[in-house]
Amino acid sequence: MIRDVLKMGDPRLLQVSTPVVRFGTPELEALLQDMQDTMASLNGAGLAAPQIGVPLRVVIFGVGRNPRYPDAEEVPYTVLCNPELTPLDGAMEDGWEGCLSVPGMRGLVPRHLRLRYSGYDQHGARIEREVDNFHARVVQHECDHLDGILYPMRITDMRQFGFTEQLFPGEDIADD
Ligand code: NI
Repeated sequence: MIRDVLKMGDPRLLQVSTPVVRFGTPELEALLQDMQDTMASLNGAGLAAPQIGVPLRVVIFGVGRNPRYPDAEEVPYTVLCNPELTPLDGAMEDGWEGCLSVPGMRGLVPRHLRLRYSGYDQHGARIEREVDNFHARVVQHECDHLDGILYPMRITDMRQFGFTEQLFPGEDIADD
C-alpha cells in the first residue's frame, strides 16, 4: 500500500528510531511492502521507515538502469535493518542529493566516499558490503533518517541548496 511520505518540518522525521528485534514477521513484511510501493510510486532511490511514520531502523534502496541517466551507477535493491556504517578511510566527496521528504529541492552534500555497511535483511540474514561512490552516498542518506538527520542538515555551503528547477534549468530530474 502506498503511504504518505512525511515532509521536513514534521517532528517524527527528527526522532531516533529503534532497532528491529524480531525478523521474518508478517508486520515487518507488511512494512517493507508499503515502503517498496511508496518508493516505487515516487521513483525514489531509497526510503527509510521513519519517512512513513514508523520509527524502526529499516531502510530500502535500489537504483536500476535508467535510460535517462545512462551513466548512473546501478545499486541492487536492498532491504537493510539495524544498519551499521564504517567509513573505510577519510575521503569525502560532494554530491547532489534530493529526498522524498524535501520535495522539489536539491543540495550539495559531503559524504564518505568509501564505506563498509552491515545489517540484516527482513529474514534476519546478515548483510555485509564494501561500497563506494553513489551506492555509498545512498546508504549514508537513508541511514541518516534513522537518526533523525535530513540531508539539508549536512550541507556545508547553503548557497548550494535550492529548488531543482532553478539549480538545473531544463534538465529532466525526478522530483524526489
Ligand atoms: Ni531522504
